[in-house]
Amino acid sequence: MGKLFVSELLESRSPRDVDSYFALVKLEARQGPQQAYWFLTLSDATGQIHAYVFEELANRVPELVPGNVYTIRGVFHPDRKVIKVRDFRRLQSYRLPDLVPFTPADLPELEQTFFRYVNTIQEPPLRDLLRFLFEEQDEVWERFRKVPAAMKYHHAYVGGLLEHVVSLLALADAFARTHPDVHRDLLLTGVILHDLGKIDELTFFPTIEYTDSGRLLGHIILGYERVNRAIHTLRERGVAFPENLRLALLHMILAHHGEKAWGSPVEPHTYEAQVLHFLDNLDAKAWMFRQARESEEEGAWVWQEGLRKRVFRDY
Ligand SMILES: [Fe+2]
Ligand SMILES: [Fe+2]
Repeated sequence: MGKLFVSELLESRSPRDVDSYFALVKLEARQGPQQAYWFLTLSDATGQIHAYVFEELANRVPELVPGNVYTIRGVFHPDRKVIKVRDFRRLQSYRLPDLVPFTPADLPELEQTFFRYVNTIQEPPLRDLLRFLFEEQDEVWERFRKVPAAMKYHHAYVGGLLEHVVSLLALADAFARTHPDVHRDLLLTGVILHDLGKIDELTFFPTIEYTDSGRLLGHIILGYERVNRAIHTLRERGVAFPENLRLALLHMILAHHGEKAWGSPVEPHTYEAQVLHFLDNLDAKAWMFRQARESEEEGAWVWQEGLRKRVFRDY
């Protein structure tokens, strides 16, 4: 049996039995005129919905912990757009794409392509740095392969960063072929690491959200910090990481938004940083045009929020 999604429930006009699973986003204790009740915010890949738990289930409420997934049984009331919960049960195994927006690309294939490019990077300190980050530190790769590339404007779904980075690697690789004067290994390493701070900036379960450090420091600084720390660790182990290469790589992370007004503390001052900025911008914009062309809205012109303009697609 397929899962009943939030979007389907919200469309129904008459009361409907619910027996489906959702992630619990929020749990609030409230006092009604007659009795106390709990107000739940539930979510899945298609959106959020609210639910009530009444006193008859009060002794089981401690089992409800935000961030966990539950099978919810009850009735959806279309007038108030809520589910009255009759029973719930914690669920341990589920399909992540049912619960959060997910990349339309094939994730294992993206992972393979990613490591194929990583393995073409020859220059020893850069190769060592990537190995250290992606092979030695399990939690980096675990988050890198899943985190969205952005909160809403482009690739805002699980696997989005990896999809964005793999697309950029292909562009950077092509650029290095037509422009052999560019430092290819540095360009590709910068591509891989430019948004590394996203793994600290965003959470993606049960909803895509900024973390406290993401809001307070932002992914540029968070990524800079991770990479700088990794370089220092390598040096302590005896790896010769030239100082100017460290500066050139960190500069790419700091300058990748291109302008101070767009959140970069410095503008690009190296060939590779400038190329990275244009490719990054190109890939994000291409995603936005694709999204506008594929949108289900009707008509030849579609408003695209990230581009802040209309896109024409009737040709
Ligand atoms: Fe960025
Ligand atoms: Fe990016």
